[in-house]
Amino acid sequence: VNTETLENSATSTGSAIGDRYLDLMRDCLTRSAFPESWHPVAYPRGSWRSYALAPLQALLRSKRMYLCRPFEYSASKRFTGFDWPPEAETMIGLERLANLRKCCISAVKDEIPGDFCETGVWRGGACIYMRGILEAMRDASRSVWVCDSFEGLPKPTHAADRKLDDSGEMNPAGTLWRYKQLAVSLDEVKRNFARYGLLDDRVRFVEGWFGESLPRAPIRQLSVLRLDGDLYESTRDAMLNLYPKLSVGGYLIVDDYYDSPDQSCKAIHDYRDEYGVKDSIERIDHRGVFWRRSP
Ligand SMILES: C[S@@+](CC[C@H](N)C(=O)[O-])C[C@H]1O[C@@H](n2cnc3c(N)ncnc32)[C@H](O)[C@@H]1O
Repeated sequence: VNTETLENSATSTGSAIGDRYLDLMRDCLTRSAFPESWHPVAYPRGSWRSYALAPLQALLRSKRMYLCRPFEYSASKRFTGFDWPPEAETMIGLERLANLRKCCISAVKDEIPGDFCETGVWRGGACIYMRGILEAMRDASRSVWVCDSFEGLPKPTHAADRKLDDSGEMNPAGTLWRYKQLAVSLDEVKRNFARYGLLDDRVRFVEGWFGESLPRAPIRQLSVLRLDGDLYESTRDAMLNLYPKLSVGGYLIVDDYYDSPDQSCKAIHDYRDEYGVKDSIERIDHRGVFWRRSP
């Protein structure tokens, strides 16, 4: 098994047209090729603004109209994955998407056995990219596992997720369940795959809260596992159930490592300490990290 570092392993699909297909997919999935100009007005669940607007929004919806405001697209925010895009199928930005591409290509080229998987998919963009990479590399054997509640984040229950910050406010990850923008239905994610011509029986959906759905998921072996559930509990459930299925030479990617030190970052370190994982953690950008599993 080849366990070279990512930098040393080849990161092109091996065909110029394959590489261009993936470039084009990236620019579509992030909308960096055709920036959005509008976004729907939405406030967190339970806020006075959301109550105040509800009647007007219901009335407009009944007339098939929506309340929107102009959206100021920022190329640098989209590059770094700093915004929640109004339409793009992924919010992870171009740097983390590039890391995902390298990991997937390396896993296929190095013949690391196992499927690709993401826990926490939102509109599905990163998973659509994984399926596109298999297409570009003419890999007909692997599947992509798409795991989510498809109804947003859970209310935090674990102490780490309920932790208050220095000013007595709930930590940002602990408030994410309030955002309807993060609740994307299974049908919408399927439609997004279909939009790219990539919805087939090699895209496998695992629906439900990770603590219940992942132990039952018929996933056998993985070569790329990407975690993007933001919370301590979501990250821990994914590690406990799926990390043992990651092949030697496979990649573990953590999207929200740096911006939730007491949540996903802590879950990762607790797991590593408990199970003696020593592989060195590599930085992707201001948010994400990854490592390659050693024997
Ligand atoms: C930040 S979004 C993921 C962004 C996505 N990876 C992308 O490419 O844009 C977080 C997702 O995690 C899901 N999620 C978080 N915790 C979960 C849990 N415990 N069970 C199921 N889904 C969860 C949410 O529903 C949401 O879709």
